Amino acid sequence: MPNLYQPYLDFALDTARRAGALIREKTHTAHKIDKKGRINLVTEVDRASEELIFSAIRKAYPDHSVLGEEQGKVSGQESSCRWIVDPLDGTTNFASSYPCYCVSIAFELNGTVVVGVVYDPTRDEAFYAVKGGGAFLNGEPIHVSSQDNLEDALLVTGFPYDIAANPDIHLGMFSDLIVKARGLRRDGSAAIDLCYIACGRFDAYWELGLSPWDVAAGNLIVTEAGGTVSDFFGKEHNLLYRDIVATNGKMHPAIMQACEKYHEALRRSPYYVKVGERDRQ
Ligand code: IPD
Ligand code: CA
Ligand code: CA
Repeated sequence: MPNLYQPYLDFALDTARRAGALIREKTHTAHKIDKKGRINLVTEVDRASEELIFSAIRKAYPDHSVLGEEQGKVSGQESSCRWIVDPLDGTTNFASSYPCYCVSIAFELNGTVVVGVVYDPTRDEAFYAVKGGGAFLNGEPIHVSSQDNLEDALLVTGFPYDIAANPDIHLGMFSDLIVKARGLRRDGSAAIDLCYIACGRFDAYWELGLSPWDVAAGNLIVTEAGGTVSDFFGKEHNLLYRDIVATNGKMHPAIMQACEKYHEALRRSPYYVKVGERDRQ
């Protein structure tokens, strides 16, 4: 069954590596930085990377739909095949030459992500997964950690660009958990955070305010590596939700317990998205 998806995986890996090479080439050149919001940056390299990926998709799969961070939803066709692209996840890091950023490409079939690729050009690390086929880093199988004790766990989180307007839940979760864990990082690339859960470098991750392109590939890589991905209520994560918890599975109850205190605030926040008629807890 997974072999059915092999051509899409090969294509996504090749395209992510080519976009990563483009990003690597531009690492030490001065960037043209534009602001999409107060602290939300976009550089010419984000746009060039997205153009490289989109034109590769147009050429290889002209009938497929595409969703990318910079150009949004393009391609006239409403296809059951959709590519979800973050051409440069970790733009703030990239703009400051902090080496933690990547290219994220997911392939969705009938609403289910079946291929996910995250390529980190700074370490030449390609994380990938095919639904039902396990998760890999540069060809080697990866698995989540076995850590089950919060006090010995290394956690990671992230903050959205509107944090100044809605700081409470982010800061509350951060301060509640930093005093309970071994360590808590904020690395600035959601896709890399998820892949580091998948390969056991981090034990648990949560964030509010994400978009589908931040997590589409990483979520599959986590679950194929044996981890758990949910919303803040412990329910199945939907790509349109803006709240996410991803762990090695064993740490899930501890993070869910920490989330509980913020359920009410979350329901009243801009990070609580309902999808269609499906009600949430
Ligand atoms: C951002 C990164 C960051 C996360 C932000 C995202 P971008 O994506 O993934 O880690 O905290 O919420 O928007 O803008 O660098 O592609
Ligand atoms: Ca992103
Ligand atoms: Ca981006």
